[in-house]
Amino acid sequence: MSKVVIAGNWKMNKTASEGKALVEALKPLVADVCSSKADIIVCPPFTTLSAVVEAAAGSNIKVGAQNIHWAESGAFTGEISAAMLKETGVEYVIIGHSERRQYFGETDQTVNARVKAALAAGLKPIICIGETDEERTGNRTEEVLATQLAGGLEGLSGETVASLILAYEPVWAIGTGKTATPEMAEETHCFIRKFIADKFGAEAAAGVVIQYGGSMKPENAAALCSQADINGGLIGGAALKADSFANLVKQAIEGKAGC
Ligand code: PGA
Repeated sequence: MSKVVIAGNWKMNKTASEGKALVEALKPLVADVCSSKADIIVCPPFTTLSAVVEAAAGSNIKVGAQNIHWAESGAFTGEISAAMLKETGVEYVIIGHSERRQYFGETDQTVNARVKAALAAGLKPIICIGETDEERTGNRTEEVLATQLAGGLEGLSGETVASLILAYEPVWAIGTGKTATPEMAEETHCFIRKFIADKFGAEAAAGVVIQYGGSMKPENAAALCSQADINGGLIGGAALKADSFANLVKQAIEGKAGC
């Protein structure tokens, strides 16, 4: 895969007017990035989505949400359905971020239900997996990722898996400034792709996009994306400013081109 897929996860940051301003500032900075080199996605909070979809219209910036409920509608106070997201005009949705797993009781089973709801509505899921510090030092990284992948992707066909975006985000690297080295990340990405090949077939393994996430920034994006199995990034902190996000996109493209 010679292109990168870079998604900004804004988390609980940016009101509607702030989000609009960020996209307006980002547009000219990435206007020259062609779609054969990179997909650029921003994922604002729910209340900022409409303003950002409007601001991004006609540009090369695509928009995603940060969560989705699995039911079509009903008594789920505080939740947002696939139809609601579709109507705002978003294309992507982040599912199973480690913060949701840690603070909001997300499990592999609820991830799987959300993934299926997103796919049924024609939304593209960005499915997050990753091990904690304790799991890595306890040599359990592969076991943890295998469990998350098997549970989160349960019941999907190889053809569907080929169209998915996975985000490998070691929990110990998120928001900490500690990044996995490119070699360490590549080793894990390789494991993930092999797992997908074994369970869902070669076509799925070749098609699935595997992003790296966890303190990716303009300074390390090229080295990370130069690795064969790293197809882009899911970016938190460095996505909150137009210049750093645009710079990161360009570094990632350069890294991939040199790969
Ligand atoms: P970070 O967050 O880039 O701030 O580490 C990444 C994420 O949580 O998706």
